[in-house]
Amino acid sequence: MTQDELKTLVGRAALQYVVPGEIVGVGTGSTVNKFIEALAGMKDRIPGAVSSSVASTERLQALGIRVFDSNEVRELAVYIDGADEIDGRGYMVKGGGAALTREKIVAAQSRRFVCIADESKKVEFLGKFPLPVEVIPMATQRIVRQFEAMGGTAQVRQKDGQPLVTDNGQHILDVTGLQIREPLAFESEVNQWPGVVTVGVFAHQKASVCLLGTASGVRTIA
Ligand code: A5P
Repeated sequence: MTQDELKTLVGRAALQYVVPGEIVGVGTGSTVNKFIEALAGMKDRIPGAVSSSVASTERLQALGIRVFDSNEVRELAVYIDGADEIDGRGYMVKGGGAALTREKIVAAQSRRFVCIADESKKVEFLGKFPLPVEVIPMATQRIVRQFEAMGGTAQVRQKDGQPLVTDNGQHILDVTGLQIREPLAFESEVNQWPGVVTVGVFAHQKASVCLLGTASGVRTIA
């Protein structure tokens, strides 16, 4: 099976976690796009979705799925999203699509985080994928130096020759060379650096369950 087919497989499998009658939290990325396509088939059984990015909002609305503002909803039963890396404990690196801040916000208001990913995303330890960190531009160079002091190398993500601007009007650093052995402690530490909006380690908002697309079918890691 191709990677695209594996994404389709887990995107469809995630439908079993959508609670009829309840608003669903929707992430961002190519795997979630498969989920959104599948969700259109049950749109009459849910009031709608809370979305984690402008891109997902546009896709949902194009398929006739109502999108609620996160402030309109107190709690979501389930949030469905992809990952750039996931370890055996459900800790993840996210933000390859630059949507990490809104993803973490929607994940935090959800009782359950269902991660959907093809098997290439499964790792023993986080840190191989360049770690996305959303930052306020005036703090960029100090944060770059703080990552250097940790042994990492941080680069400002570019788009069309300019720093990429997120849905929140901020920039993204991609940090290589880190080995994140203690994701909870790492996330807490980086969160405290002034100017960090969101670090792409999802340890406090880890996956409750992961549907991993493999050549032999969907493997569920709880
Ligand atoms: C978006 O900002 C990310 O967190 C995505 O969830 C992650 O990059 C996975 O994306 P793909 O499903 O496209 O690999």
